Amino acid sequence: MKLTIIGTGYVGLVTGTCFAEVGHQVICVDNNTDKVKLLQGGGIPIYEPGLEDLVKKNVAAGQLRFSASTAEGVENSDVVFIAVPTPPLPDGSVDLSFIESVAREIAGAMTSYKIVVDKSTVPVKTGDKVAETIKRYGKSKVEFDVVSNPEFLREGFAVEDLMKPDRVVVGVRTQRPVPAMRALYAPFHAPIIVTDINSAELIKHAANSFLALKISYINAVSVICEASGANVQEVANGMGMDARIGRRFLDAGIGFGGSCFPKDLSAFIKISEQLGYDFALLKEVQRINAGQMDRFVKKITDTLWVLKDKNIGVLGLAFKQNTDDVRLSPAIDLCQRLLKEGAVLRVHDPKAMDKAREVLKNATYVEDMNEVAAGCDALVIATEWPIFKKLDLERARRLLTHPILFDGRNLFDAREMEEMGFIYKSVGR
Ligand code: UGA
Repeated sequence: MKLTIIGTGYVGLVTGTCFAEVGHQVICVDNNTDKVKLLQGGGIPIYEPGLEDLVKKNVAAGQLRFSASTAEGVENSDVVFIAVPTPPLPDGSVDLSFIESVAREIAGAMTSYKIVVDKSTVPVKTGDKVAETIKRYGKSKVEFDVVSNPEFLREGFAVEDLMKPDRVVVGVRTQRPVPAMRALYAPFHAPIIVTDINSAELIKHAANSFLALKISYINAVSVICEASGANVQEVANGMGMDARIGRRFLDAGIGFGGSCFPKDLSAFIKISEQLGYDFALLKEVQRINAGQMDRFVKKITDTLWVLKDKNIGVLGLAFKQNTDDVRLSPAIDLCQRLLKEGAVLRVHDPKAMDKAREVLKNATYVEDMNEVAAGCDALVIATEWPIFKKLDLERARRLLTHPILFDGRNLFDAREMEEMGFIYKSVGR
C-alpha cells in the first residue's frame, strides 16, 4: 500500500520505517527541512535500537523516502498518517495546533479518496474535529475517512513494539476504511480491535494513565516496604506472578518521566475535568511520583548532610534505559536538584550525554562509566540502563572518597553491596 506519515519524530519515523520494512511504499514528511535533509543524507535524528539499519535498508530498496512536502506525500498515498507532536499547554491540556494545521494541509492537497489516520496521542473527540476541519478546508467532492490508530510503542524498544504489537487499535466512523487498515497491519500478525473513534482515542490515554498508576502504586508500596523492613522487589515478584496483575511496570524507583506519561496523565485529568469528572485517582498518581523523587533526595541529604561542594557522581541521564531522550527525565531533575543544593556533579550516560548537555550545563561529563566515581563523596544511579549492572564495583569503591552508593533504580543486591563495603541505599528495600 502507499502511505505517507506526516511528522518524523519517534512515532512517525519508526512507524514509517516499519511499514516500509513489511512491504508498503512509504513517504515520511516533515516540515523541518534540516531534518528532512539529514534523513535524505542517511542520518538519523534519534537513537533507537535497530532503527538506523532498517532506515538504510528500506531507503536503498526504494520502499522509504523523505520529503518536506505534505502535498507530495498526500498526492502519492492512499493512507495519510498524522504523527505530529501534541505537547502539553501550561494548564495540562493538549496543544492541538500541529494536528489542526496538518489537517488543513491534508485537506488542501487531497484530490481523491484518502484515509486520514491519527497516530498522535490526542484527547477524546479530536477525530471529530479533524474530520470537520478536513471537510471545511478540502475540495467539496473529495471523500475521505478519519481513523484513530493510537501508537503504543515504548522509546528504546520502538522497533520491537511496532513489529510485534500486543494489539492494534483502529477507531472508525464508518466501515469503509476497515479493510484497508486490516490489510495495512496484516503483515504484523497482531490482533486488531476495531472500535468507534472516541473509544480508540480513550484507549490510549486510559492505557498510559493505568501504566503510570501501576508504577506509582509500587512506588507507594516501596515506602511501606522501607518503613517495615520488607523488600519491594520481592513484593513485586510475588504480586506479579498473579496473571491478573503481571510483573511488568512494577519496578519501584525515582519515578516515571519522559515525554508521554507525565503529559498524558495531565491531559487525561484535564479531559476528565472538562467532561465533568474529577479523576482524583490520577492526581494521586502524580503526587506519589513527585514524592518519590523528594524522598530519594532526602535520602541523599540525610546521609551526606550538607551538599554544598560535595562531589557526586551520577550514572544515567536519559529518562529510562535504551534511549537518548532526556525530556522530563527524572535523572535530569535529580541532577538539577543536587546542583541547586550546591553539589558538584560528574555525570555519565551511555547514549544521552549530547542531549543532556543542552539542558544540564554545570556538570562534568565523563565518557567512561567506570571513571565517574573518581574523587566523589557518593555515587548515584538514576537510570535503569542494564550496562550499569556491569559497573566495576571494586574500582568504584576505591575511587570514591567514601563508599556510598544511592541506587535509584534498584540495580544491585543490597546484601552483596554491603558485603563489598558499600553504604548502599536503594528504593523500598
Ligand atoms: C510509554 C508507554 O509505555 C508506551 O506504551 C506508549 O506508547 C508511550 O508511553 C507513548 O505514549 O508514546 P515510554 O514513555 O517510551 O512509553 O516509556 P516507558 O517504558 O513506558 O517508561 C516510562 C517511564 O516509567 C520511565 O521513566 C521509566 O523509567 C519508568 N518506569 C517504567 C518505572 O519507573 N518503573 C517501571 O516499572 C517501568
